[in-house]
Amino acid sequence: MNNNPWQVHNPDGAFRVIVTKALPGQRWLDILTSADCRVDICHSKLVLDTETIKAAIGRRCDGAIGQLTEAWGATLFDALKSAGGIAYSNYAVGYNNVDLETATRTGIPVGNTPGVLTETTAEMAVALLFAAARHVGEAERFLRAGRYTGWLPDLFLGTLLHDKTLGIIGVGRIGAVVARMMVQGHGMQVIYHDLAANTELEAFVADYNRFRATQHLSPVGCRRVESLDELLETADCVSIHTVLDDTTHHLIDARRLALMKSDAILINTSRGPVVDEVALVDHCRHHPEFRAGLDVFEHEPVMAPGLAELTNVVIVPHIASATRWTREGMATLAACNVAGLLSGYPLWQKSDILPFLEKAAPHAIPSIVNAEALGWSGQRD
Ligand code: DGY
Repeated sequence: MNNNPWQVHNPDGAFRVIVTKALPGQRWLDILTSADCRVDICHSKLVLDTETIKAAIGRRCDGAIGQLTEAWGATLFDALKSAGGIAYSNYAVGYNNVDLETATRTGIPVGNTPGVLTETTAEMAVALLFAAARHVGEAERFLRAGRYTGWLPDLFLGTLLHDKTLGIIGVGRIGAVVARMMVQGHGMQVIYHDLAANTELEAFVADYNRFRATQHLSPVGCRRVESLDELLETADCVSIHTVLDDTTHHLIDARRLALMKSDAILINTSRGPVVDEVALVDHCRHHPEFRAGLDVFEHEPVMAPGLAELTNVVIVPHIASATRWTREGMATLAACNVAGLLSGYPLWQKSDILPFLEKAAPHAIPSIVNAEALGWSGQRD
């Protein structure tokens, strides 16, 4: 039996690209093979360690598509550089697993996959919010365990979200869509904390309020709050959409959890280490009315001791972006990043990335996060 998890496609391709996990769909592979790439795909479900990836890069490798679970640092970028590599793309919009400074030092552009996760991830944040507010996980486990003996007036009483205040931490693409969904769909009041005001979101809510007025509905609010502490003290529900970096590691710690209302709901679909998970477990233990909905964990796939046993926490295994459309779109963008770099295409100058999902992708590189650091010229619109 052949136990080699690597499969080679288009073995005579002029370029060699390694892809450390099998990706959904076929289009991404067609893009790479049409760009004259031999593509080596690892079909193992296990997270590859650095040495295994280094061995796969080998002596000749022009480009790579890696995963958010892999540490793309000096070992791998130096190996890629020595193997003649000039292209890397993360199969993710986030890139906290990538040492950008090292990639830039070695002259290797780092691609990511923005613009196709927005609604999908926002929908999961909202799903977790409702699941937490209405005890969906707990109630399902109760039912499946055969403990439902009949309707009761006080069975799994939850929280009505309508007209409550939602605090958004990080109001970029995903945070803004969560805000819009909850304002428009559920009449929630929004406060947000970010470095700058999101004028587009505020204009959207202002427009929506004009419509509400025609329906004799009271306006919903949307305002930026200067201080994160104020947001945490005020909001009934908080959804985290910030990137993970040195400034956001353990942004939500024991002190900040203590600022939140005792029956608040905390949702995290960004990155696990933004929340001090041990502190969260402790907080949830001592505040049974507090609830959390988590898609991401501090030390994935491991969870902090006690987390899985908490009934006031809803947990899913980092699947916020897991719709077929999104995951295939991410694969297409990652392939276009690598193929575009190998083909010498220019950087795409628009923030709308969706043209790459159409039948004939633009002859451009969709998204390079260290473009500026590499001294590439050009601004996105
Ligand atoms: C990303 O792309 O950063 C997401 O976390 C994947 O789900």
